[in-house]
Amino acid sequence: MEITPDIVEKLEKLNEKYAALGQDLSSYLDGLLYADSVKYWDYIQVDTLLSLQKPKTSFPDEVIFIVYHQITELYFRLALCEFEQLGAQNAVNKAFFIERVNRINRYFEALIKSFEIMVTGMDKEQFLKFRMSLLPASGFQSGQYRFIEIYSTDFINLVHKDKREALKSSNSIREMYEHIYWKEGATEVGSGKKTLTLEQFEQRYQEEFIILGEKCIHTNLWQVFKRLPEEDQKDEKVINVLRQNDINVNINWPLAHYKSAVRYLERPNDDIAATGGTNWQKYLPPRFQKRIFYPELWSSNEKEDWGKAWVMDALA
Ligand code: HEM
Repeated sequence: MEITPDIVEKLEKLNEKYAALGQDLSSYLDGLLYADSVKYWDYIQVDTLLSLQKPKTSFPDEVIFIVYHQITELYFRLALCEFEQLGAQNAVNKAFFIERVNRINRYFEALIKSFEIMVTGMDKEQFLKFRMSLLPASGFQSGQYRFIEIYSTDFINLVHKDKREALKSSNSIREMYEHIYWKEGATEVGSGKKTLTLEQFEQRYQEEFIILGEKCIHTNLWQVFKRLPEEDQKDEKVINVLRQNDINVNINWPLAHYKSAVRYLERPNDDIAATGGTNWQKYLPPRFQKRIFYPELWSSNEKEDWGKAWVMDALA
C-alpha cells in the first residue's frame, strides 16, 4: 500500500494531537491495530435494550405498555439534550434557537402521533388486569417529564393556577415548589391526603426538582428567548416555534394521553380508579390544569380557552 502525502499529513496531525496531551502516537496506533471493528449490535446496545422489559404479569400486552413508556422516556431524553444546550450558551442566536426548539417540537409531535399505540393498541381486558400489578406506580412519576417542564419556563408558571398571583414575587423555588400544580393531581379523592404515588415520587425526586429549578432561573427556555435581541423576540418564526411548543407539550400531548385514560378507565357511572389514585378526570384535561409555559405569547382569550379545540387550529 502506498503511503500517500494525505496519510502522512494525517499522521503528522495525529502526532501533534497526542504530543499536546503528552502521549505517544505509536502506542495509540498499536491500539488501532488490535481494536475490534465496531458492530451495530454492540454500539446500539441492542441486547441490553431488549433485556430492559420486565413485565410483572404474563399478559402479552404488558410488554407493549412497558416498551411504549420506554420509547417516551427516550424521546424525553432527546428533548432534554436540547434544553441543556440552549441553556448552556450565553448568547443564542435566532437561527439556533428556532432550529433547536423545532427539534423538541418534532420529538413531541412523534409522541403525539404515536400515542394511539396506547389508546387503541392494547387489549382492554388485559390492561385492566395487568395494571393492578403495577400499583401505585404511574406515569405521573416520570421525572424527565417534570425536568422538561422546569427547563421550559419560569417556575411560577408551574405553580398551581390559584396560587400564582400570591407567589408571583417569590424568589424562593422551594416555596413555589410547595404549590406546584401537579401536587393537586395527586391527592386522594376521599381524604384529600397525598397519594402514595406522590409521596414516593417526592422522596425520589423533590430535591432534584428544586436544584434544577434554581439552576434554570436564568437558563430556562423562556429566559433564553428573553435574551434574544429585541427584534428577534418579535420575529413571527421565533414566536411560532414557542407557541407550537406550548401547544405540543401542554395541550396535544396531554389530550392524546387523556384519551388513553378515558378508553381504559372510564365507566358509565363510576370511573375506574387510576393506579396513582388521582381524581384523573378533573386533573388531566389541559383546560383544567391551564399549564402554559409562555403566557406572554398568548392573548387573554387564548389563555381563557386553553385546551379547547380552536387553540390547536390557531397555527394551522
Ligand atoms: C393506557 C395508557 C395510560 C393510561 C391509562 C394512563 C393513565 C394516567 C392517569 C390516570 C394519570 C393520572 C395520575 C394517576 O393517578 O396515575 C396519568 C398521569 C400521567 N401519565 Fe399516564 N397513562 C397512560 C400512559 C402513559 C404513558 C405512555 C406515559 C409516558 C411516559 C404517561 C405519562 C404520564 C404522565 C407524565 C402523567 C402526569 C401528567 C400530569 O401531571 O399532568 N402515561 N396517567
